[in-house]
Amino acid sequence: MLQYATNIVKIRQKLVKHFRCSSTSAKPNLTDTITINNKTFKRDDYTNITDKIVCLAQKSLHTTPHHPISLVRQRIVNYFYKTFLNSRRNPLFSVYDNLSPIVSLAQNFDSLLIPENHPSRLKSDCYYINREYLLRAHTTAHQAELIRAGLDNFLIVGDVYRRDEIDSKHYPVFHQLDAVRLKTKDQLFSCENDLKLFDCDDTACIPGGPTKQRCHTFEAFKLMEHELKTTLVGLAKELFGNQVRYRWVDTSFPFTQPSWELEVYYNNEWLEILGCGIMMQSLLTNVGVNNRIGWAFGLGLERIAMCLFKIQDIRLFWSNDSGFLNQFKDDDLKSPIIYKPISQHPQCIHDISFWLPEDKTDSLSFCSNDFYDLVRNVAGDLVEQVLLVDQFTHPKSGKKSLCYRIIYRHMERTLTNAEVNEVHQLIECAASDQFGVTIR
Ligand code: DAH
Repeated sequence: MLQYATNIVKIRQKLVKHFRCSSTSAKPNLTDTITINNKTFKRDDYTNITDKIVCLAQKSLHTTPHHPISLVRQRIVNYFYKTFLNSRRNPLFSVYDNLSPIVSLAQNFDSLLIPENHPSRLKSDCYYINREYLLRAHTTAHQAELIRAGLDNFLIVGDVYRRDEIDSKHYPVFHQLDAVRLKTKDQLFSCENDLKLFDCDDTACIPGGPTKQRCHTFEAFKLMEHELKTTLVGLAKELFGNQVRYRWVDTSFPFTQPSWELEVYYNNEWLEILGCGIMMQSLLTNVGVNNRIGWAFGLGLERIAMCLFKIQDIRLFWSNDSGFLNQFKDDDLKSPIIYKPISQHPQCIHDISFWLPEDKTDSLSFCSNDFYDLVRNVAGDLVEQVLLVDQFTHPKSGKKSLCYRIIYRHMERTLTNAEVNEVHQLIECAASDQFGVTIR
């Protein structure tokens, strides 16, 4: 018992040190500031970004030569360069891959017509720096500012940040590529002078199909839809081969109407690879564009890289292991690379059960994403998966108990029991310190 108590004291000291040596503290601190990429911000009651995320915000995998994420970016950019040429046979699209991931709520949400009560704004889903800034949750956040700056055809590539579960397909930072193409009446209809882009007429809605925006003429809408879909099917074929099976699925986004997802059939299942649509005309008028109609799309680079290179675990993209990185050194972008797994080391599984304090039993004050961030912050990439395996409310006391299963596995070596035990105890201590939970 005494032995256990002295161990806990030691672990607490470690935990204090762990958090003291980094720029942010484990507990939210309302008076403090936070520094990310050399910029300092005031913390407030919205701040939920952790040290781990601040560190990840410094890497630039999408522009690191030979990195698989960068290879997929290059393949897509090259496809756009060769598909869209101006009259002098130069690429029409320009590429922005170096924009700061720190954006305002106005950029990430308001400029894209995302309503105040939209779930994507929730604190449980985004990494907020404070009430004014966050780490972008999608590269779409930059569309409006680039259009306002006068661009008509552009791609945006960058790292994006979302609070999510921990498993082989999710990581709090991943990479997206967005595209925008705007066309004037003359560009869309060439010599057909009597056709118009805009008309306040909705007689041409397709029965049962996705609805065009009222302000667009049927001809303008159909030509844009056609160009968007042929471009994206061409892209899917470029990436997955000419034989790829694909299908369009209707969906909705606040910034496009109509909106679609493109799915490809891969490994015996339908896989959603991108979202797209005809841009909301009010998004364009809000940034001063009155004479153009636009299409746009956005896709995630990790998902495509995982398929193309047969990479099973998303953490590998962040690995410095040369056994992984050297497999992508081939300079020929078109050559198929199939990643050969570096040896799989054994898993080590531990459960953690705790009572929530009474003031946190409602779902608003504690969510699983809070716990996942704590695990990431303490254990980093040692954790392969976290699962909520049990929850119940005590019938008499009304107290709520949660049990999470934490699956530890290092990607490059076998973990010892001793080190996993230590990390697991650090997680228990951090959970009781940060959330006031009682470990069972
Ligand atoms: N931003 C969307 C997402 O992260 C993807 C997206 C959909 C981007 C439609 C677009 C678009 O530019 O037009 O899920």
